[in-house]
Amino acid sequence: MSERIFLLPLWLRIWHWLNALLIIALIISGISLHFADPEVAMFLGFDLARDVHTVAGVALCALYIYFVIANIFSGNWWQYVPKPGNFLKNVWIMTRYYLWDVFKGRPHPFPPTPENNFNALQQIIYWMVMYLLMPALLITGVMFMWPEFAPDRIMGVDGLLPIAMAHYILGFLLMLFMLGHIYLGTLGATTTSLFKMMITGWHEH
Ligand code: HEM
Repeated sequence: MSERIFLLPLWLRIWHWLNALLIIALIISGISLHFADPEVAMFLGFDLARDVHTVAGVALCALYIYFVIANIFSGNWWQYVPKPGNFLKNVWIMTRYYLWDVFKGRPHPFPPTPENNFNALQQIIYWMVMYLLMPALLITGVMFMWPEFAPDRIMGVDGLLPIAMAHYILGFLLMLFMLGHIYLGTLGATTTSLFKMMITGWHEH
């Protein structure tokens, strides 16, 4: 018999899916811009890709500010904070679970509760993605939109070059995160139960 607990409020679920949609639009338009070629149209043509990337990028900045404010006021920020006691050991237990135990049908070592929704591995990865990677990606994107914010020169090269490289690498890392994240999303009680949870808020054990 599967057991259900309610974990995710509506504001968080709405944020999550808008965030995912905007990031998919940014990846498709970003690839189109990066590999733009006058001879071959990559996914979207250059002009459409530029407009989609600008609009989705500005919308993602606004959505990110909403995420931070809603996390503060709802107290959800606490989920991201590693709790004392065997943090690294628990990260290892979760990693071993995903690499090995899950294929043996062993039980999840840290089933979520409303107080502790994230296990140690989720805490560290989600914290890095939401509070380091995302702000750095957004800030480098904003500098691209208003190049006057970028320093004129950095270590003897045009100031926009390191910003462009950082933006590209961070975007690539976010794309890798998303692929791993979707794969791990299939390892719930059933292949689809974690995706359903992100829609309904109910977690199935
Ligand atoms: C199509 C793209 C995506 C799909 C299908 C997806 C799917 C999921 C699923 C199944 C979960 C529940 C599993 C879990 O709690 O770990 C989840 C949670 C989460 N996802 Fe995604 N995701 C997507 C994109 C993203 C992106 C791009 C980000 C961040 C940049 C993100 C951030 C999060 C966070 C922070 C949670 C935890 C929410 C909470 O419980 O408070 N997701 N996602």
